[in-house]
Amino acid sequence: MLKVGVIGAGAMGKNHIRIYSEMPGVELAGIADIDRELVKELAEQYGTRAFTDYREMLAMGLDAVSIVVPTKMHRQVATEAIEAKAHVLVEKPIADTVENADAIIKAAAASNRLLMVGHIERFNPAVIKLKEIIEEGLLGKIVSISTTRVGPYNPRIRDVGVILDIGVHDIDIISYLYGKQVNQVYAVAGADIHSFEDHATIHMRLDHEFSGLVDVNWLTPHKVRKLTAVGVGGVAYLDYLNQTVELHDSGWVRKAKIENREPLRNELEYFIDCIRNGTQPKPCGTDGKHALKVSLAAINSYKEAKLIEITE
Ligand SMILES: NC(=O)c1ccc[n+]([C@@H]2O[C@H](COP(=O)([O-])OP(=O)(O)OC[C@H]3O[C@@H](n4cnc5c(N)ncnc54)[C@H](O)[C@@H]3O)[C@@H](O)[C@H]2O)c1
Repeated sequence: MLKVGVIGAGAMGKNHIRIYSEMPGVELAGIADIDRELVKELAEQYGTRAFTDYREMLAMGLDAVSIVVPTKMHRQVATEAIEAKAHVLVEKPIADTVENADAIIKAAAASNRLLMVGHIERFNPAVIKLKEIIEEGLLGKIVSISTTRVGPYNPRIRDVGVILDIGVHDIDIISYLYGKQVNQVYAVAGADIHSFEDHATIHMRLDHEFSGLVDVNWLTPHKVRKLTAVGVGGVAYLDYLNQTVELHDSGWVRKAKIENREPLRNELEYFIDCIRNGTQPKPCGTDGKHALKVSLAAINSYKEAKLIEITE
């Protein structure tokens, strides 16, 4: 039985708690949140222990923790959890700065702990299917991937803009589907309704040749989560929400058979399997750091109206 804890029981933390509580071979040993009422109520609901100080929970000795506190706290909480000998799944983005991301990565390596970053869309059944399709070469060489992730503003998000809150999802997915790193970014964005940027168009060059285009905003009254991958041999249209993939080529229109499943459940089961097998999970710390670096470069690019080079 693996002993698991969750630190941060807010909007996303609740989902981690629910899924771990239902996972075979996993004991949800505790949950921690500074909101005393919230954590007590959830602990009663899921039959586990409540903590308002996550350090007390870590002191119990846990095999693994999910870190789902606000992004600016990821470094502090993740490095303390690693020092307490727990394997760590930290939510996206890995941290609020590249320096803080490096500190988490270094701590995990130094303590020989497994570190995973919560880029949940990699575990979306439609993305898993499209990755297979691309690797099988069904679309030929991919030359362009573009995404649309728009919808109404969520008033809960107060500490970052639309690029770090939701753009980072597609920045990671485009790099993942290509299997390549971003080396140049140019972004146009603005903060027309909110204090942080609430709309952005980000153009990325990957491996000096391949195109990635991310369109995000908090202005559109309805939610859209779509991706288009253009290959020399055909085009794929993916819908993240409906978990569908449709392929078009010169002779055919085909719809992929996909079993719908909750992406976070796939992600947490995979994390637990990696701990059992002692294998380094993906996305790992450096994958998370790259997605963060590109996101921060996109913010610089729109503020300075210039092309930004991404160096390793
Ligand atoms: N993967 C995804 O799709 C996804 C979706 C939403 C949020 N997130 C990420 O998850 C993280 C949390 O976001 P959220 O939307 O759940 O935010 P939230 O504000 O709803 O929840 C954060 C929780 O952390 C608690 N907290 C703050 N300081 C704490 C401390 N010192 N110890 C214990 N608990 C503390 C707060 O009381 C709150 O309940 C962010 O990094 C965000 O980017 C990821």
